[in-house]
Amino acid sequence: MRNVTITALVALALLAGVAMGMPTRSYDSCMAVTQLSSSYNYRLYWNQLNSSSTSISIAMEAQVGGWVGFGVGGEPTMIDIDTQVGMMAGGGVVVDGYSDGPNQPPMDTNNDNTNVAVKYENGILTAEFDRVLNTGQVKDNVWIAGSNSIVAAVNDGTPPEVDSEYSRHDEAVRFPVDFTTTSSCPPPPPPASPPPPSNSPVTTNSPTVSGSASAVPMMIPAVLAAIAAIVVAMA
Ligand SMILES: *[C@@H]1O[C@H](CO)[C@@H](O)[C@H](O)[C@H]1NC(C)=O
Repeated sequence: MRNVTITALVALALLAGVAMGMPTRSYDSCMAVTQLSSSYNYRLYWNQLNSSSTSISIAMEAQVGGWVGFGVGGEPTMIDIDTQVGMMAGGGVVVDGYSDGPNQPPMDTNNDNTNVAVKYENGILTAEFDRVLNTGQVKDNVWIAGSNSIVAAVNDGTPPEVDSEYSRHDEAVRFPVDFTTTSSCPPPPPPASPPPPSNSPVTTNSPTVSGSASAVPMMIPAVLAAIAAIVVAMA
């Protein structure tokens, strides 16, 4: 009976996550970066690492129009930070860079980010990617299964048109994150309120309608999983 409860709770948690418009993939850790202004609602997600991990799955998310960024290592003077900057340029990209001072970090020759997914929905920019912890390249830092000194940064300006050109961060903070730990975020703020009701018939093209409709197909597997778990345990 205990297993049923746990499985059903996990399925419901997944379901709740999808319904709240979180990243496309699921992550076992989420950190609300409260060191940045709260209006950005910056959240960093990752899948927990262990001593055998060789890569990591990351999502960075903020209420910004320009870009959402994340860097590993380097100096407070913005030297030698291994930067990942997510933006909608070209349909969505996570730029792999390496800073050499208080300027836009030059792009790496090799972009080592894989499984990249970037979306801008309801005013929230979400950038997801996978990354090998040690690429062996000079213009990358080694990310460790342990405590990393990381930088979270945002730009709330206009979206960059090309991936190589983006303006300076509006805010950046540095703090340690141990990727072998898990943490969880408080529930995100509710989405922007829908337009006031009118007498005209509801159109299927309104942003609120299509936004919630897109979540429904993704919710179905979680519901089925919850039902299946209960049925199996009762058999
Ligand atoms: C260690 O983490 C990797 C992902 O980084 C995962 O695939 C693997 O199952 C984990 N191993 C253990 C023993 O938890």
